[in-house]
Amino acid sequence: MIPDKAPKEDVFHGSEDLKKEAHVSSFDRYKELYASSIERPDEFWGDIAKDFFWKTKHTGPLLQYNFDVTKGEIFVKCMEGATTNISYNLLDRNVHERKLGDRVAFYWEGNEPGDELTVTYRELLQSVCRFANVLKSQGVKKGDRVSIYMPMVVELVVAMLACARIGAVHSIVFAGFSAESLCERIMDSQCSLLITADGFYRGDKLINLKLLADEALQKCRDKGFPLDKCIMLRHLSKEAEDTSQSPPAKRACPDLQVPWNPDVDLCWLSLTRAASDECEPEWCESEDPLFILYTSGSTGKPKGVLHTVAGYMLYTATTFKLVFDHQPDDVYWCTADIGWITGHSYITYGPLANGATSVLFEGLPTYPDVSRMWEIVDKYHVSKFYTAPTAIRLLMKYGSEPVKKFKRDSLKVLGTVGEPINPEAWHWYYNVVGEGRCPIVDTFWQTETGGHVLTPLPAATPMKPGSATFPFFGVVPAILNESGEELEGPSEGYLVFKQPWPGVMRTVFGNHQRFETIYFKKFPGYYVTGDGCRRDKDGYYWVTGRIDDMLNVSGHLLSTAEVESALVEHEAVAEAAVVGRPHPVKGESLYCFVTLNDGLTLSRSLEAELKQQVREKIGAIATPDFIQNAPGLPKTRSGKIMRRVLRKIACDERELGDVSTLADSSVVEQLFQNRCGAGV
Ligand code: PRX
Repeated sequence: MIPDKAPKEDVFHGSEDLKKEAHVSSFDRYKELYASSIERPDEFWGDIAKDFFWKTKHTGPLLQYNFDVTKGEIFVKCMEGATTNISYNLLDRNVHERKLGDRVAFYWEGNEPGDELTVTYRELLQSVCRFANVLKSQGVKKGDRVSIYMPMVVELVVAMLACARIGAVHSIVFAGFSAESLCERIMDSQCSLLITADGFYRGDKLINLKLLADEALQKCRDKGFPLDKCIMLRHLSKEAEDTSQSPPAKRACPDLQVPWNPDVDLCWLSLTRAASDECEPEWCESEDPLFILYTSGSTGKPKGVLHTVAGYMLYTATTFKLVFDHQPDDVYWCTADIGWITGHSYITYGPLANGATSVLFEGLPTYPDVSRMWEIVDKYHVSKFYTAPTAIRLLMKYGSEPVKKFKRDSLKVLGTVGEPINPEAWHWYYNVVGEGRCPIVDTFWQTETGGHVLTPLPAATPMKPGSATFPFFGVVPAILNESGEELEGPSEGYLVFKQPWPGVMRTVFGNHQRFETIYFKKFPGYYVTGDGCRRDKDGYYWVTGRIDDMLNVSGHLLSTAEVESALVEHEAVAEAAVVGRPHPVKGESLYCFVTLNDGLTLSRSLEAELKQQVREKIGAIATPDFIQNAPGLPKTRSGKIMRRVLRKIACDERELGDVSTLADSSVVEQLFQNRCGAGV
């Protein structure tokens, strides 16, 4: 499956310098390790596990599983019988065993240039212990779910690791999601406590997060789920005497109106001041839940992807170490938000498990100007940098000048994640940002996979722009045709995985059946990614994008059903169909067709209302780019909307393919004539 020899043509290589110190320094070494990870997984992962602390050792095979629905329930168990604590491994082990207490864990860089904070491993351990004691004092116990709705501040990491320390299960909701989305996630996970902040700035824009959190709690109450504990961190509205972590002057915002309900709200600062900074970790079973993270589901209802302690720890630690070729003097920066899986695995868990020093950035790549990223790279001497294709495309629009204003000579490895990277963006990233010196690790993975599954290793894998190249250790990909047959050699079809790796999700929270149906029913014996994929003559994998009803907007998945249901909740809308239309920066934009109730017309104000409605229901990320009035939608005789046709209309492509099953073909012409943004 992996070629004997790495191809010599049409490929790019990293620098020779990188190879000298790399953990995996050649393609041959990658192949050797890959073979051992597949043939002797117990030995392979067992050796890695030796670096971690286990209160009790595991018994039996390291990975036990059933990946075939026809043979019974799907399950994956890693290190069965072992007990450990992930926060102990990330913090205490680094501070006490590895003597890294004074090492910087995070350089926090605020939205405003000049707002900064340095946190060492020792300080992080103390803060986590304090907050773990706070959670305990509020009655949070092992197994309880805690929702976290916070901006990109160090306290977000503290909150998640404090949960992990006491065996509570965190469910982080991205702070860009709406009150409605937060309410839905709180209720689905049956959380017993919410942690939030007063507010934050995104560029120039002030977000009053507490207001949204309160609205969510009210919605929960209205729906019969009264959650009556909310801990709020004062991030912007700090008082003068608050010197807990020296408040950077520029981010102060004493005027922020923070609603406060004394029956529910608790102050982060007063609680932590009163708490001890020692907290014995809860020793968890290897398969105890670590966190839930919601991701869009094709039915419209988000699914709570559940990851467990030991396997996720081993996998994020190993992928981080090898994919970014982590070295002790590195400064690593992942620009993602912790509210998404990339932030969970590659800001918090993977880097801290390795004792890495990271930048934690609150702001935007374009604020106060489009040089901000490169300014930060120089400021902290960032050596490993990980971002999304959408950010690269956005910055590319401004040319190379804003990049070249800064030296960037500390950079060694560049990474991308979230969607296929188009070759133009790849070349710009490689040549302009990395000056032809830094390999690009194009990492393909999902919320569900926990960590990278297809990815180059920077000193070992010759790169092809746009290809995520080869599987990571322990991962066995295959490409299937529609009948579920494995295709060999160059081919294109469904991307699936044939066996589990330690970091794969274990279930959909509260709905194991949904887990089996979504990922394992279509092709028994395989985990189905939902992505299409091509394998070329050299065995390289090229992920081509989603093949289900999902959209990838700026690297974030949304389901068409989710947006449609937000639209039809508006009283003016009878029916809605949403498709993706290619977008030069976001990857895909949302193009919505709405059938209005009798007698209504799509005025500008109604259009604005509909956009607002979707923002309120889901969040700003789902804001429709185009809304088109559709007096009729193209449907089959059995009433199924032909999205394929709608996608063509959105792009003004007249080659419709076979439309013989359309019930009424006249609607198609009408929709073409009334397209939004004709000529775009
Ligand atoms: O379609 C693939 C795309 O993002 C999806 C997973 O989205 P999510 O669970 O939100 O996680 C995003 C961050 C890991 C995948 O099914 N995707 C992610 N990375 C790549 C990618 N598509 C192509 N190339 C990638 N490197």
